[in-house]
Amino acid sequence: MADSADSLTLVPAGRNMPRHVAIVMDGNGRWAKRRGLPRVIGHQAGVKALERTIDYARDLGIRYLSVYAFSTENWKRAHSEVQGLMGLFRYYLKGKIGQMHRRGARVRFAGQMSAFPDDILSIVESAEEMTRENTAIDVIFCVNYGGRQEILDAIAGLIRSGHEGPVTEDVLRRHLYAPDIPDPDLLIRTGGELRISNFWLWESAYSEYYFSDVYWPDFGREELARALDSYAGRERRYGSA
Ligand code: IPE
Ligand code: IPE
Ligand code: MG
Repeated sequence: MADSADSLTLVPAGRNMPRHVAIVMDGNGRWAKRRGLPRVIGHQAGVKALERTIDYARDLGIRYLSVYAFSTENWKRAHSEVQGLMGLFRYYLKGKIGQMHRRGARVRFAGQMSAFPDDILSIVESAEEMTRENTAIDVIFCVNYGGRQEILDAIAGLIRSGHEGPVTEDVLRRHLYAPDIPDPDLLIRTGGELRISNFWLWESAYSEYYFSDVYWPDFGREELARALDSYAGRERRYGSA
């Protein structure tokens, strides 16, 4: 577990804290390249950063943490990199879910899960089932996630449902991947790129953005605290004057 006493001193209680923090975990490949290592080693280091971040977020009282781990576009990468990522996904799910469960995390997934092999699907289902009642933090793994695909899937689901009457935001939202989770308040992207890359397109309509030059494997408590600090000073107006 993260050193909770230290984490709390970095972000004093009573601050304006986001309920839902979403993270585009970018920069693993460049982190590895800078060290002359294969990209997959960067992804391994990224898994460690993720484990730390889940602990910090939980200790700080962030109720929902969603992480972009694999996009619908990431299949375009070299077969070896995709295979490496699938291997890590398996290892992470098998090895870490029990630990997350003991720490009170509810584990969820958002994305087109049908693309994954059966063994991964069965671990995903048992992880969701095992952790369903946990309330310390919800961790949403966005895998084979694409914002445009999510909206298309929601429209298809809406049509299948035979809905009659006006199609309002609330009606469409019911068909998104995680309709009960509040929209991201704070959306962090590491790795220095200033783009959204198809993440939470519907849900991020009014999210606050924080872009960090830190490569994801180097992300830690200090950078999370900086993002939360930046968020705490913002005024959210949602279009009002
Ligand atoms: C993010 O790191 C992880 C995934 C997309 C799976 P990258 O692999 O995109 O790292 P960079 O952006 O090439 O450095
Ligand atoms: C976004 O990173 C996807 C994930 C972090 C999973 P990418 O590295 O795929 O995004 P682009 O290609 O730089 O836009
Ligand atoms: Mg990238």
